[in-house]
Amino acid sequence: MKINISTLNLILSTPRIEDYFALNDFENRNKNHLGKWESTSQSTQDILSLENWIKECDEGKSARFFIRTKINPDIIIGLCNFTQIFHGSFQACYLGYKIDYEYEGKGFMFESLQTLIGYVFEELKLHRIMANYMPSNIRSAKLLHRLGFVVEGQAKNYLFINNKWEDHVLTALSIEEWKSTLTC
Ligand SMILES: CC(C)(COP(=O)(O)OP(=O)(O)OC[C@H]1O[C@@H](n2cnc3c(N)ncnc32)[C@H](O)[C@@H]1OP(=O)(O)O)[C@@H](O)C(=O)NCCC(=O)NCCS
Repeated sequence: MKINISTLNLILSTPRIEDYFALNDFENRNKNHLGKWESTSQSTQDILSLENWIKECDEGKSARFFIRTKINPDIIIGLCNFTQIFHGSFQACYLGYKIDYEYEGKGFMFESLQTLIGYVFEELKLHRIMANYMPSNIRSAKLLHRLGFVVEGQAKNYLFINNKWEDHVLTALSIEEWKSTLTC
């Protein structure tokens, strides 16, 4: 099922097979920008990965969104990925995100996630979103802090990034913490 969500400046949509070329363009434009922050398995350079994403979304195993601006909807400028959705007594998922280097520092990732976090808690009925970042990723740290994520600890040698095991700061946002940010 295709989902389109509109925010002030953006259109957030779940993957379709027609997105393949726009997604490939995004990855190619941003190789240098993203390379130091992500594992190779996170990028999508083949149609099978995109088909797999669509299948996962349809099965409720993940919720992935491509970001486009309303001004220029032909290009993808970023991705927000809510993956590894757990049900039962955990009701949780992991969050990953990335934005085109030309659109960084404009508040577009904040605008996307502010809306999508509401979707994950209210529509998908999850209870907890977990997001982890390398201590040197100051932009990621600021973004998560602004969204209300709480630092819960540090993990040594947590993810294999750019050919090296990297320590990460572990953060999470529960529905209770999210609701309290809405009333502030
Ligand atoms: C992490 C990442 C998504 C953050 O992107 P970002 O554009 O800095 O994030 P935001 O959308 O929160 O934008 C914040 C910036 O926009 C500015 N801004 C402008 N208008 C704004 C608005 N209306 N609301 C919020 N911020 C706004 C803020 O001042 C801030 O700029 P500054 O940091 O230069 O002061 C981006 O750096 C990225 O893709 N990095 C590479 C991949 C990566 O690290 N992924 C995460 C791995 S854990």
